[in-house]
Amino acid sequence: MPPLPDLLPPDIRYLLERETQTMRVTIVGTGYVGLVTGVCLADTGNHVIGLDVDAGKVERLNRGECTIYEPGLTDLLVANLAAGRFRATTNLKEAVEHAEIIFIAIGTPPKADGSADLSMIEKAVQDIARAVNKKTVMVMKSTVPVGTCQRVESLVTPLARHPVIVVSNPEFLKEGSAVDDFQRPDRVVIGSEDADAARIMQELYQPFVRNRHPILVVRRAASEMIKYAANCYLSTRISFINQIANICEALGIDVDEVRSGIGYDARIGSHFMYPGAGYGGSCFPKDVQAMYHVAKAAGVEADLLSAVHQVNERQKNLLVERVRAHFKGDLTGRTFALWGIAFKPKTDDIREAPALRIIDGLLAAGAKIRASDPKALDHLRQEYGARVEYFTDAYAAVKGADALIICTEWNEFRSPDFDRIRESLKKPLIFDGRNLYSCSQMQARGFTYYSIGRPRVDGR
Ligand SMILES: NC(=O)c1ccc[n+]([C@@H]2O[C@H](COP(=O)([O-])OP(=O)(O)OC[C@H]3O[C@@H](n4cnc5c(N)ncnc54)[C@H](O)[C@@H]3O)[C@@H](O)[C@H]2O)c1
Repeated sequence: MPPLPDLLPPDIRYLLERETQTMRVTIVGTGYVGLVTGVCLADTGNHVIGLDVDAGKVERLNRGECTIYEPGLTDLLVANLAAGRFRATTNLKEAVEHAEIIFIAIGTPPKADGSADLSMIEKAVQDIARAVNKKTVMVMKSTVPVGTCQRVESLVTPLARHPVIVVSNPEFLKEGSAVDDFQRPDRVVIGSEDADAARIMQELYQPFVRNRHPILVVRRAASEMIKYAANCYLSTRISFINQIANICEALGIDVDEVRSGIGYDARIGSHFMYPGAGYGGSCFPKDVQAMYHVAKAAGVEADLLSAVHQVNERQKNLLVERVRAHFKGDLTGRTFALWGIAFKPKTDDIREAPALRIIDGLLAAGAKIRASDPKALDHLRQEYGARVEYFTDAYAAVKGADALIICTEWNEFRSPDFDRIRESLKKPLIFDGRNLYSCSQMQARGFTYYSIGRPRVDGR
């Protein structure tokens, strides 16, 4: 292709140049992060293979069936399969030989002591190293403790016949808005000591930062630390407001008033500070604990992080304690409708969801559960089988129940038909773990209404 004339405006020039600069990418692990990353990179013209050990998942993806619920993802998957830019495989050799850039997006679950289990990653990178047939950039997308990229490099170097440059590139997407977050990130963080690898990564991400949000290139260890620091800070905000909420409640103060009073302080803000039944998901709980262990190994007592974790553990038990207290300790034979199982709205992910703690507590106390969730019932059924009843119709779940418990703030639950709920329940009783409704309105509607950090109201 002849050189482009210099007079072209930079944006157009860049677009024309891109035509020739698409890359061959492999994503190892097609879960929540890997699938979104793979499909979004394919959508900007790259040729992407998603490698997974789960043959069923691979088959479904190649049929255009999304294996997770994430708004907008199915359309992108189908379009990029049709365009021949994305496909999934279980064949490691084929996937490795295809790519100049290999992303690792495998799970890093917590071990029994809370530290990160890297065994799946370590096995995968060694298998990949044996298969590389050219110089390759290996990108650590998984959330890993500081020092992991360096360790991975030392594992792969003796096994690979060609140089493997390991780069850190933590992911900040939020389940429920993952596609949007990936396509319009607040920032992209690249940890690399290798200038060429950093440049390739910057090029790969250019289409996603047209909004002028930055691509930060830092050292690998700093990049690994940024991800943990971000998740620890966000978890801290939640545990902070939950602790304040509990104090407010004991003192008869409405935490909503306090929240707006502190939120207008520009140094604080009211975003990401909602009192509730605790944080869950596959990231915050494990990352706070993993960071604690990283600190401990470095000889630093991370007592703030251990408190953040403890506050959250207590908070996840709060609704069950409240239900028990309301029924004077005896829940035998009682039935509870649960609205919202996913750890947050707009996802089907139930890992570490507060709802699971509530279900376990109520089942152990001899109660029955009628669960409803717009997207997460299949996952719940896989874990609880016949121990729980499942309802796609949220109102059907409430029928004949002793109380309604709200665990996830899906939009569907924000303005429900309260008359229908009141008529369906044995008594008008709601335990709200997400503060969806106004206390005064619930009182006027005749409900006994418990929420988090706000005085209980008893309907007239
Ligand atoms: N889920 C999130 O919101 C999120 C956000 C940011 C970062 N992260 C981090 O990203 C990483 C992945 O998280 P996730 O939620 O996508 O996990 P996940 O469990 O949804 O997906 C992991 C995938 O890897 C596959 N896999 C396991 N071993 C493999 C191997 N050897 N070869 C190929 N595939 C293999 C699994 O079958 C699965 O499909 C974690 O470290 C997590 O902390 C997650």
